[in-house]
Amino acid sequence: MHILVITHALSGPWTGNRTTAARWVSLLTELGHQVDLAESYDGQATDLMVALHARRSHPSILRYRQERPKAALVVALTGTDVYRDIDSDEDARASVDAATRLVVLQPMAIDRLPAHVRHRARTIYQSIGECLPQLQKSPTAREDEFFDVCVLAHLREVKDPFRPAEAVRLLPPSSRIRILHAGAALSEAMGQRAERESRENPRYRWLGELPPDEARALIANSRALILCSVLEGGANVVTEAIAARTPVICSRVAGSMGLLGAHYGGFFEVGDTEEAARLLGRLENDADYFATLTEHVAGLQPMVSREREREAWRRLLDEAMADQAVQEATVSGAVRGESRFQLQEGSAEMARDTFAQEVREGLAASPKRLACRYFYDAAGSQLFEEICALPEYYVTRAEREILAERAEDIIAPFDTAIDLVELGSGSASKTRMLVEALLRRHGCLRYVPIDISRAALERSANELLRDYAGLTVSGIVAEYGAGLRWLQRSHEASRLILWLGSNIGNLHRKDATQFVRQISETMRPVDRLLLGIDRRKPRAILEAAYDDRQGVTARFNFNVLTRVNRELGGRFDLERFAHRAVFNEAQGRVEMHLVSEQSQDVAIDALETSVGFRAGETVHTENSYKYSWPEIEQLASEAGCRILAHYQDLRSQFSSVLLARLE
Ligand code: AVJ
Repeated sequence: MHILVITHALSGPWTGNRTTAARWVSLLTELGHQVDLAESYDGQATDLMVALHARRSHPSILRYRQERPKAALVVALTGTDVYRDIDSDEDARASVDAATRLVVLQPMAIDRLPAHVRHRARTIYQSIGECLPQLQKSPTAREDEFFDVCVLAHLREVKDPFRPAEAVRLLPPSSRIRILHAGAALSEAMGQRAERESRENPRYRWLGELPPDEARALIANSRALILCSVLEGGANVVTEAIAARTPVICSRVAGSMGLLGAHYGGFFEVGDTEEAARLLGRLENDADYFATLTEHVAGLQPMVSREREREAWRRLLDEAMADQAVQEATVSGAVRGESRFQLQEGSAEMARDTFAQEVREGLAASPKRLACRYFYDAAGSQLFEEICALPEYYVTRAEREILAERAEDIIAPFDTAIDLVELGSGSASKTRMLVEALLRRHGCLRYVPIDISRAALERSANELLRDYAGLTVSGIVAEYGAGLRWLQRSHEASRLILWLGSNIGNLHRKDATQFVRQISETMRPVDRLLLGIDRRKPRAILEAAYDDRQGVTARFNFNVLTRVNRELGGRFDLERFAHRAVFNEAQGRVEMHLVSEQSQDVAIDALETSVGFRAGETVHTENSYKYSWPEIEQLASEAGCRILAHYQDLRSQFSSVLLARLE
């Protein structure tokens, strides 16, 4: 087909956006399409438009939409779109809403999008041509007199371009570090400053603007790359550094964390000159640190494979065209007449005296405990949504990536309309990818979300019904037990049962196996269970995921005490407790605790009791079990299931297993 790629970045200095647009043109061409690149849409005939930059391409996007209301439109979001304009600029927002598919360059960008468009977003990591000669390290190009660290940044505020020069001024006289800075001066003042810095700072050299090939050779032959940006969408230079296996010292911005991973060891806070200097010094002097960063970067090579990027585009175009076909057909699946929404109370919502009873028992026990399901009142559910967007909490992003890529495969076996049943559906935002795939295939679908929060159920159901004409929703307000009883009722339509998000991790292994067994016993041979399971991984990654830098998980944990205070007249002083998350490796679970920082007695009025805490005494509030592959296999077989498919995210952090009942 014909594809029109729109970008404003066709003239001026060579930018990351321009590199991106040029590469996309060649990838799309390789996929057999006829591709044109233009600065704007002026009514050209085309089958699909790809617009790079939501805000700047807005006039083109608007015109395209007006002329072709139902045509496929892909909008690719830049760093300024995602990290600045999306909150404030109406054009950027309108472009995002108009798109049938959104492209981002790293997965953390999706967390910044309005919830109702997240399922339309796809991460397309930028790639590098296999074995690009400029990215091969050349042993002769390296002067051992220096420890060269390159900067590839045009001289613009947003790149914080003089931070590296300032950082190396702080290094001790023994340091051999030299900053080689390539980039165009986008203002005269900036150029003058770079020249002055070159004259006065013996460790700094400004090379001016380099052609792309030379810039790549510079990355390959430097010991490291330093990137100080205040904001990044998913920097091309990081991709190039990965391809060249050159370690990166980098400001801690989402755009770079999304590429390198939140636990990468080379981050400093934006603007923190001293920390940047310290990391550079360490890289020069600490061989282990150098090796760790180099290995990490080298391990990301699959991410930057050109084949992978081409495949991601192929999938995206297929989906976009399939969506367009559905749009253009008169919504044949639309369900008329009967009401499209039902809500059942599966069991009474958790009553206040159950909570009271559990608090009484849990705090009298030794060790003390409180059940994790009490996290999820309105405030707690909101905090959990925030957790899902944290850089350290990879769980949600990893599963979203899997569903975005595999929705079609997962639903492929179902030939006729099914019931999609979800345990613990929450906001159901990831589920949309399956809902859409099923609606594309069958035209209609019944969705049966089961959740303990009536508010969450009603909200998600309303949003889904508004967006999909072919959908009916039968929600059930219930805990898992009642959900299971619903599943046990006889059924005609085939079922795809979802238990996502590693919710299974809250159950002890035996209980998890038992529960999956009970689910499988309700399944007929055609039915499927899609289980999302978090994997075992190094302690540092797990503990950071449950004890984030912003303290959101801590607030989530404290929320249970807030509830006791509010609902049961508790007198907990949150200041006297601390949040603790530890990976218990023997059990393979992350445990969350609240730790009493002093010896204290806390009254709980409604229970007419007072609870004594020793200094350092803990209340165990959650288990989050992690599974190795053998543990997953064991779970499946002991639960009477056969593993039909196993999907993983790019970094192998998370597993989605598709199960059928063992006959
Ligand atoms: C909703 C149970 C999957 O264990 O990862 C997140 C809950 N707790 N951060 C998890 C949670 C702390 C989450 N689950």
